[in-house]
Order: sequence, then C-alpha cells, then structure tokens
Amino acid sequence: MAAAGLAEVVVVGSCMTDLVSLTTRLPKAGETIHGHKFFIDFGGKGANQCIQAARLGAKTLMICKVGKDSFGNDYIENFKRNGISTEFVGQTEDAATGAASIIVNSEVKTLFNPAPALAELDPQFYTHSDIFCCNESEAEILTGIPVGNPEDAGKVGLVLLERGCKLVIVTLGPEGCVMISVEEPIPKHIPAGKVTAVDTTGAGDSFVGALAFFMACYPHLSMEEVIRKSNFIASVSVQASGTQSSYPYRKDLPQDLF
Ligand SMILES: Nc1ncnc2c1ncn2[C@@H]1O[C@H](COP(=O)(O)OP(=O)(O)OP(=O)(O)O)[C@@H](O)[C@H]1O
Ligand SMILES: *[C@@H]1O[C@H](CO)[C@@H](O)[C@H](O)[C@H]1NC(C)=O
Repeated sequence: MAAAGLAEVVVVGSCMTDLVSLTTRLPKAGETIHGHKFFIDFGGKGANQCIQAARLGAKTLMICKVGKDSFGNDYIENFKRNGISTEFVGQTEDAATGAASIIVNSEVKTLFNPAPALAELDPQFYTHSDIFCCNESEAEILTGIPVGNPEDAGKVGLVLLERGCKLVIVTLGPEGCVMISVEEPIPKHIPAGKVTAVDTTGAGDSFVGALAFFMACYPHLSMEEVIRKSNFIASVSVQASGTQSSYPYRKDLPQDLF
C-alpha cells in the first residue's frame, strides 16, 4: 500500500455524523417540541483522533467505511479538507458501526483505545498493543476496579500489565492521566494544567490523536513528554464547545510544543 507507507498516522475506526438539537428539555415519547438550535457535526472516535493528529501536522490516512449517502459524501469532504488521505475510506449501503479504534504509526507501533469497552475483550488486544489507552469508565469495565483518582488508575495499570500490556495510560479528565509500563512498573501521575472547561466532549479523542501525532512525528520524545504535550492539547480542546470544532490547529498552539 503505497499511500499507507507514506502516512505517519493510520487510524482504523469509526466515523459518525452527529445530528445535534439544542432544546430546553427532552421531549416525552411522541411529543414535538421547539428547539433553539440544530447543527450537524462530524464525530466518531476514530475520525476524531485522525482529525486531531492531522491538524497538528501528521500525514494521516483513515481506514473506515461510510454510507453511500450525503452524510458519507460530506464526511469524505471533511477528511479531505483536513488533509487526510481518503483512499481507504469505503462507501457502503450498510450503516457504519463504531466499535474500537486502532492507530498505527510508521514504526508499526500500535496504540489501542478500547472504546466502547467490552468486559470480555479478546486478550490479544492486550498483548498486541504497544500503548493501551483507556479512560476511567473503560478501565472499570475492563478490570472491575472503579477509578476515581490516580491511585485507582495505578491499580488498573498493574492489572493490565499482568494481562500483557506493554504500556498503559488511564486518562482522568481534569486530573490528566496515569501511565505505567513494563520497563517502569510504578504508576506515574501526569497532571493536566488547570483550565476552565467549557465542553469536555471529545477530550479523550483529542488526547489519543495528539498522542499518535507525537509518537509518529517525534519518536525520540519520552512517553512522559508525549503525554504532557497531549494533556496540554486535550486541555485546549475542552476550552471550546463541540468535538472536532474544538480541536486546535498547530498554528494556533504554543510553538514550543513542536
Ligand atoms: N477539565 C479538564 N481540564 C484539563 N484537561 C482536561 C479536562 N478534561 C479532560 N482533559 C484532558 O483530556 C484528557 C482526556 O480526558 P478524559 O479522561 O475525560 O477522556 P474521555 O473520558 O475519553 O473524554 P470524552 O469521553 O469526554 O471524550 C485528559 O487526560 C486531560 O489531558
Ligand atoms: C469514556 O469513554 C467512553 C467511550 O468508550 C464514554 O462513553 C465515557 O463517557 C467516557 N468516560 C468518562 C469518565 O468520560
């Protein structure tokens, strides 16, 4: 695959069209109510991550399938506008399904984001991923350990190392995240900066997209440094509303990140 060979970040995952209605309350079954705003947004965890990596400057390629309809056509345009290669974006009559996303960079490193999480995840996902990155609720579904603080996240990390992961990152919203690796099996809390969050939707995907970007384009950075930078980018995304609409471009970020 010539095109895949040139890409620095390849994302296999979902892309969804979000139809967003803003209303003062939810309608009851069968009721029609007035809303005050409606918009169509681009979403889906795989696509979000790919868009964030592309906006930071990685050469990206998306592998997914959209419907043979106007939403699918629009999504392909959205990828192209963001400079993402769409050679492997298929179109089908069947509905697209979002299950899990795998990101592969040019060093064939695999970053796995188990979203949505399944308690019975195939054990090969643990052993085959170089980086296993989950949030608090995914961590609990996978391990049964409720996660509310960095200490709990460290316990999850240890369990996932036992299952064969090489490096685990558990994201903790405003608390940043915890990382742990086979090389250094002591949980390390990497806090996020204090910001005023406006809308945290899609913060996790911004984080994973940034992680893929830095791993692919700055392979000599330590994982801790990559996580610090990704925390920063995700914390920028929570300061504006929307999902992809809140993802920063490289030109608008402090240049010492790059
Ligand atoms: N309020 C916040 N302040 C600063 N940084 C934040 C905040 N919320 C999220 N972040 C950043 O985003 C990263 C991911 O957040 P989180 O753990 O909430 O992911 P998530 O639950 O998958 O997100 P979502 O499901 O809302 O997309 C965090 O590790 C942190 O870097
Ligand atoms: C974690 O990600 C899942 C998607 O897998 C999402 O539904 C859930 O709300 C997120 N959890 C937190 C604590 O944000």
